[in-house]
Amino acid sequence: MSTERDQLFLQVQSLAKTFPGASEPVFDEVNFDIARGEFACIIGHSGCGKTTILNVLAGLEQASAGTVIMDQREVFGPSLERGVVFQSHALMPWLTVRQNVAFAVKSRWPQWSSAQVKQQVERYVGMVGLTHAVDMKPSQLSGGMKQRVGIARAFAIEPKMLLLDEPFGALDALTRGTIQEELLKICSATHQTVFMITHDVDEAILLADKILLMSNGPVARVAEVVRNTLPRDRQRASLHHTPGFYELRNHLVDFLVSRSKELSGGRAPAHPPQVRPADAARRAAGLDVEEVEPANDNLVRAQPAARLATLKRSA
Ligand SMILES: Nc1ncnc2c1ncn2[C@@H]1O[C@H](COP(=O)(O)OP(=O)(O)O)[C@@H](O)[C@H]1O
Ligand SMILES: [Mg+2]
Repeated sequence: MSTERDQLFLQVQSLAKTFPGASEPVFDEVNFDIARGEFACIIGHSGCGKTTILNVLAGLEQASAGTVIMDQREVFGPSLERGVVFQSHALMPWLTVRQNVAFAVKSRWPQWSSAQVKQQVERYVGMVGLTHAVDMKPSQLSGGMKQRVGIARAFAIEPKMLLLDEPFGALDALTRGTIQEELLKICSATHQTVFMITHDVDEAILLADKILLMSNGPVARVAEVVRNTLPRDRQRASLHHTPGFYELRNHLVDFLVSRSKELSGGRAPAHPPQVRPADAARRAAGLDVEEVEPANDNLVRAQPAARLATLKRSA
């Protein structure tokens, strides 16, 4: 049986960070939560502290105040329970794709036989469509391929939570679109819980169930939680024809253009309100408003590999 507490997979409470020597915090009173199986994106202007928050969630950086509770335990230090994809792919250049992914898999399951490692590596490399490149080195790969290896590596350790820092920022629009769709497919098949930083509102609308809007720094905060109530089977090519899309998009852009500034310097509320900008337009068009409740599927979490097998068959 799952309880409500179990549903709240990640709880971030009163998080603050002041770097040594700085007079003001980058952010303070950052409060939000992410449910199990939910895809959350965070958007905010450069420098507001998004990467710092992600690093705290990853356990790579210490907050000045506040707590992070993941799966009912406080986060202290890095852990293979969390898979991170950095802004740059961060692959080891002297290792092949296979060896890069295997390195992570072996760290996660040191007791595994080499056959088990091989199977895991090949499954996830296949998942991102790189089977043909498995024995190549990063220097032989395009930017998009390298980023896919980073994604395969993060998924291959079957993390409880995936942390993504603008993973597609350096890619051309076409490649980005393809990988976004792959990520969406994989995440919905595995019910992966995701925290992703992006500066691209269209990317957030395509991928996220929930979009956290961050005000400008210093003293930035998560000022608002926007629910994406467009149906979950979103497709890049048709998304802009979906009723409610423009209302949602305009809401996000308005925040970035003006409200993020007005709410800077600690003027944002500590406990952000939740809004659903697409709902009115969807109702006016006679459509259902999706109750995008994330799956709380402990069974699924226990069997991500089985889920992926289903996904591969249907792809
Ligand atoms: N290690 C550090 N030491 C001092 N200041 C830092 C450090 N890391 C980040 N900052 C500052 O904290 C602020 C937030 O940085 P960051 O989290 O990278 O923002 P974002 O990812 O939103 O662009 C910036 O003003 C940056 O200069
Ligand atoms: Mg950043």
